[in-house]
This record gives sequence, C-alpha cells and structure tokens, in this order.
Amino acid sequence: MADSSSSLITIQDPGSPASEAYRALRMNLLFSSLDKPIRKLLFSSPSSGEGKSTTLANLAVTLAQVDQRVIMIDCDLRRPTLHTLFGLNNTKGISDMVLNDQALLEPPYQNTEINGLRLIASGALPPRPGDMLGSKKLEIVLDRLMQDADILLLDAPPVMAATDAAILATKVDGVLLVISAGETKREQAQRSVERLQQVNANILGAVLNNVPLDASFTGEYYK
Ligand SMILES: Nc1ncnc2c1ncn2[C@@H]1O[C@H](COP(=O)(O)OP(=O)(O)OP(=O)(O)O)[C@@H](O)[C@H]1O
Ligand SMILES: [Mg+2]
Repeated sequence: MADSSSSLITIQDPGSPASEAYRALRMNLLFSSLDKPIRKLLFSSPSSGEGKSTTLANLAVTLAQVDQRVIMIDCDLRRPTLHTLFGLNNTKGISDMVLNDQALLEPPYQNTEINGLRLIASGALPPRPGDMLGSKKLEIVLDRLMQDADILLLDAPPVMAATDAAILATKVDGVLLVISAGETKREQAQRSVERLQQVNANILGAVLNNVPLDASFTGEYYK
C-alpha cells in the first residue's frame, strides 16, 4: 500500500494512487479464489502498528463499493480501533454476541457512511480473550453474521503479541499478513508465518504496507 496521509484514503481521496492500490488488492482477493470464495478473512501482522486495521478498513470500503455486503469485525479485543476509523462507538460488539444470546439474535451492527459496509466492534474486553476467541460459540456467531454478508473481515492483534491471531486463523477461510515496508523485520515475518502454519492457517499472502510513493509511481497518469 502506498504511504498515504489518511488511514481512510479510499473515502477521502478515491482517485489517489493509494486508493488504486487498495482496489488492486480487492481484485486479487476476489479473483484469486473464484472456485472457493474467501468469505471470512483475517488480518494480522507480526508486530503492532504495521497497518492491519488501516488496510482492513480501506479494503472494506473498496469491497462495499462493488456491492459486496461487508461486515468488519473487531477481534482485536485488547486494542480495538476499527470503530475510531469510522467515527463509531465500542459500546457493544463481538464479545457481547459470544457472551449473551440476545446480542446473537440482534447483532449490534453499526452502519458506516458507505452503503453495504457495517461494523461489529469488539465490545467490552472479556476476562479471558483467548478463551472467548477459541470458543465454539464464536464459530456460531461468525456463521450468524455470515447470513447477512458476502464477506466478513476480521481484525486481530499481532501474531507475535498473543495467540489470538493463530486461534482466529483456524476459524476463517484465509489470512492476510500485513508487512510494513522498512519496519517489519524479516525474522519476525518468518516466525509469524511459521506460527500460523502450525495451526494450518490458509495464508493467502502478504500486503506490503507503507510503501513510499515515488514520482515515477504518481507520474502524469494519475493527474
Ligand atoms: N499506508 C499507510 N499510510 C499512512 N499511514 C498509515 C498507513 N498504514 C497505517 N498507517 C498509520 O499507522 C498507524 C498504525 O496503523 P494501524 O492502526 O492500521 O496499525 P495496526 O497494525 O492495526 O496496529 P495495532 O497493532 O495497534 O492494531 C496509524 O496511525 C495509521 O494511520
Ligand atoms: Mg489495529
């Protein structure tokens, strides 16, 4: 992803090279799995701050713009941020749907300013996040949400920070690993892949984030 000034560049500047790069990621995602569509997709990265939530949010916008019904789910229970990227709240969320059946019946959706794009925030931090994410009940919750969507995009903590990402990787169709250009250490990236492979995660690929935009990239073409 090109280095852009706003984490939701796809809304603020849809004509920019950065937004084009998110659309390219969308195309790869939609066309890379025509025979077995990816309907539950997890975002993680080796360490914190590498761009998981920003990448998820911008890709979500571009998917909704081609009439996909998209539900973003903030499974980064310890440091939830998706609600802030869309100016929404974190009063209720996925932890409520797992811990209380009423929320399962009426999912606490929050609409965004983009048609077809909704958020399930993380909600209150449960006592044992790892247990909650590893529970059978979470699979039931994801299947319930799948009834209202073409694709679920799950945000997760860094792979090397907690077991949450590896646990979640066993409950989805694919994982995208976000790597930050010039920041992520090769060794960290390799260890993250090994950790995900230990749980037989379907690693679809890596997203190289924060790639500096250079003159040749922006050039006349985009004017
Ligand atoms: N491509 C980008 N261009 C410009 N800024 C970016 C880009 N990607 C991420 N950022 C900025 O870097 C910071 C961290 O991004 P983000 O919150 O998406 O990372 P994260 O991997 O989800 O972090 P955490 O591990 O805390 O969940 C934010 O301030 C965000 O705006
Ligand atoms: Mg994040």
